[in-house]
Amino acid sequence: MRFGQLDGQVYLVRDISEKRILRDSLRQSQKLEAIGILTGGIAHDFNNALSIVIGYSSMVLEELKSNESAQGKVQLILDAAEKAAELTRQLLGYSRKTLIFPTSFNVNDEIKAFEKMVRRLIVASIDIKLELGSSLPEVYADSSSFDQVMMNLCLNARDAMQDGGTLIITSRRVDDYQALARDCVCVEVSDTGSGIPQAFQGKIFDPFFTTKEPGSGTGLGLSMVMGLVKQHGGAIEFDSIEGRGSVFKIYWPVQKIPVKKGKPVTAEKQVQGSESILIVEDNHALRQMMQHALQALGYSTHLAENANEAISILKENCGIDLIVTDLIMPGKVTIQDLVDYVTKNRLSSTFLFISGYGEEAVLKDYEFIRANENFLSKPFSPINLAKHVRKVLDLRDN
Ligand SMILES: Nc1ncnc2c1ncn2[C@@H]1O[C@H](COP(=O)(O)OP(=O)(O)OP(=O)(O)O)[C@@H](O)[C@H]1O
Ligand SMILES: [Mg+2]
Repeated sequence: MRFGQLDGQVYLVRDISEKRILRDSLRQSQKLEAIGILTGGIAHDFNNALSIVIGYSSMVLEELKSNESAQGKVQLILDAAEKAAELTRQLLGYSRKTLIFPTSFNVNDEIKAFEKMVRRLIVASIDIKLELGSSLPEVYADSSSFDQVMMNLCLNARDAMQDGGTLIITSRRVDDYQALARDCVCVEVSDTGSGIPQAFQGKIFDPFFTTKEPGSGTGLGLSMVMGLVKQHGGAIEFDSIEGRGSVFKIYWPVQKIPVKKGKPVTAEKQVQGSESILIVEDNHALRQMMQHALQALGYSTHLAENANEAISILKENCGIDLIVTDLIMPGKVTIQDLVDYVTKNRLSSTFLFISGYGEEAVLKDYEFIRANENFLSKPFSPINLAKHVRKVLDLRDN
């Protein structure tokens, strides 16, 4: 090629499709992470607000014993706040800050309730059949995670049956499931759809692996399913023949410890006390709600806005029996500093930690938190707070 005169052309061709896929998935995961952080933050603030609503409406409910009509109205506020609390739990689940709240349940009840929802999402050309096993043991799982798993599997089955077919959900007990060496309940979702080509079978659980059109699938469904099932100590198996259909089998572990049903409700009297409690919480209204609730039960209270203030109060009052404190502290002095201060100075104060992030998430991060012992999740009701306070104080005294 000479300057000013064109003798020929050179074409440079570079395949950037892989790069583009990588870039798109990176952007997607950054987006998800940002949504996670955002929802986590909102849910946290929400939990503070809900603690106040639940707290004061429970107190008002008590005070309104003689006024049935007003009581009914306040009960409605309380019910709505509790629904909102469930919603924030789901939001936190999405942000993966708090993940599971397991309870014992029979999968058949959950599947029957879930079926109604699925029918709305599935076209009429697809038949839905339930084949539920009898006398199943209860599984120990988080029911919204269970629904999320089922929803992803059913939507995949629907997408695989564009020309109609049959979706079958079955449940059966599997005693001593070899792969997990424990008793499980197996829930199967099978379809008579397109099946999964052999070449893709090793990839379907990879995040962002999808064969769907851009915009109609993110490729995160099965990786989310895998994450949730693993977290529950369960397992997944699948089988698929191209052109014939697929079956996904989820093994949910059965709870070993029998569930205590009809636990007696602690009588008001038993949660009363006269000990001295330091409340450390940066949210003013929540701090006051806790003070009201505890004072009404006979406790004497001190208030601090942050860990620094809490240490100053401890310096002046060596007789504080319990410190009820949020885990996240504004300012430079952290919750760890507060715990260290108490340990170093050999104070007899014990702790009850509260957080909007749920036990699962905080257990990993704070070694001083002991599950079911010195931790309370937000939002909480006054009676819940009172019960936890009494439990922690009684544990210290024994
Ligand atoms: N029941 C099924 N039948 C046929 N192929 C399936 C089935 N389930 C999953 N697949 C295949 O696995 C891929 C990954 O599934 P996954 O649920 O992770 O993502 P997706 O359904 O493509 O997108 P998303 O669930 O995020 O909307 C699908 O794109 C599809 O190719
Ligand atoms: Mg999917």
